Amino acid sequence: MRPPPDKSISHRAALLAAMGEGRSLVRNYLDAADTRATLAAVEALGGRVALRGDGPGLEATIHGLGLQGPSQSQIDVGNAGTLIRLLPGWLAGQESGGTWTLDGDDSIRRRPVDRVAEPLRMMGAEVECREGRLPPLRVRGSRLRGIRYRLPVASAQVKSCVLIAGLLAHTPTTVVEPAQTRDHTERMLRSAGVELDVLGTEITVRRSFGLEPLRMTVPGDFSSAAFHLVGAVLVPGSEVVVDSVGLNPTRTGLLDILERMGAAVEERGGAANGGEPTGSALARHSELRGTVIGGEEIPLVIDELPLVALAGCFAEGETVIRDAAELRRKESDRIATVAEALTAMGGEVEPTPDGMVIHGSGGIHGGRISSRGDHRIAMFGAVAGLASRDGVEVDGIEAAAVSYPGFEADLRRLLRAS
Ligand code: S3P
Repeated sequence: MRPPPDKSISHRAALLAAMGEGRSLVRNYLDAADTRATLAAVEALGGRVALRGDGPGLEATIHGLGLQGPSQSQIDVGNAGTLIRLLPGWLAGQESGGTWTLDGDDSIRRRPVDRVAEPLRMMGAEVECREGRLPPLRVRGSRLRGIRYRLPVASAQVKSCVLIAGLLAHTPTTVVEPAQTRDHTERMLRSAGVELDVLGTEITVRRSFGLEPLRMTVPGDFSSAAFHLVGAVLVPGSEVVVDSVGLNPTRTGLLDILERMGAAVEERGGAANGGEPTGSALARHSELRGTVIGGEEIPLVIDELPLVALAGCFAEGETVIRDAAELRRKESDRIATVAEALTAMGGEVEPTPDGMVIHGSGGIHGGRISSRGDHRIAMFGAVAGLASRDGVEVDGIEAAAVSYPGFEADLRRLLRAS
């Protein structure tokens, strides 16, 4: 199967194209609720967007506004954390002034944005948030200066926000990561002609006088493919091959973890595509053993940790997830939602402040769970259902459309292929 286009890369492509000069062409842009919100934001800022195609991947032509070009507006980010964290980096550096308000749905309103407000203020920006840390977020354009910023949490969104602001700042900006996070922004900035200095975990960017237009094809989303790969590992007799999927090593931690748990998984690297490694991944049904996941591995598997917990229920022995307190800040509190869902389905899971302990019990019997409006929990519930003894009913499965509108159809197609 081919997974839908990558969500993280699609968001970045729309934003960097809008910041650029001239006409960008982005092929295989993700047509899903989150990435539609980014295109709508680009239009609200005065950018022109033309879309072609009707698959999960659109051909998007975006006419750039230039670094100092966005017009004043209200932005509805919907459910998109990446949009509300990255866009303020651009808006904060608008030297003609202007004020922008960014707001979104109930889930977004519970997610912290002080993590971007703080570094932007250090750069000289004016940013306000509700109760000092939550959306809506108000940004006033200012003249920015560069900073050296050590990220308090390993977050690609915060890193990207500061790097984008760094393009507009009058002196160089350096971001220091506590652990490597997904590097799509850095790769795409290079494609847009920006010179970045990367020294270990330090990334330095300098004032830019214009980004080149993008011509790129978005690879398939590894995080979407992950549902089918883990489904294949858990359901006896299964094998799934995923083609045209992004295999950026900052995203594929799940494959290393599954391998350590004893799963038959393989990666077949293909060509680099617009700076992003792309290829195939294969997974086959396997007997699993427990493992420990923590430290620097966490950002490389952050969105797949619910699936790792599910796999842990089928493994022999204990699986421990630690150093993952960030899971509590996602579209739902994913430590609470995953522990609650797995327990409801017959798993033995203890939540901890920064992760969970899963006692492998040979599988789960199934039951009824709620997605809590979280797209990844909805799809995790469906995969859990396939692997369970009696099946799972997922309330709120429609949340999947945030990142993967064709999820149900793809899953049915895989089942028919068996
Ligand atoms: C994302 C980064 C991660 C990830 C999210 C998308 C991105 O969040 O969980 O789904 O596109 O940069 P953090 O950077 O907040 O960890």
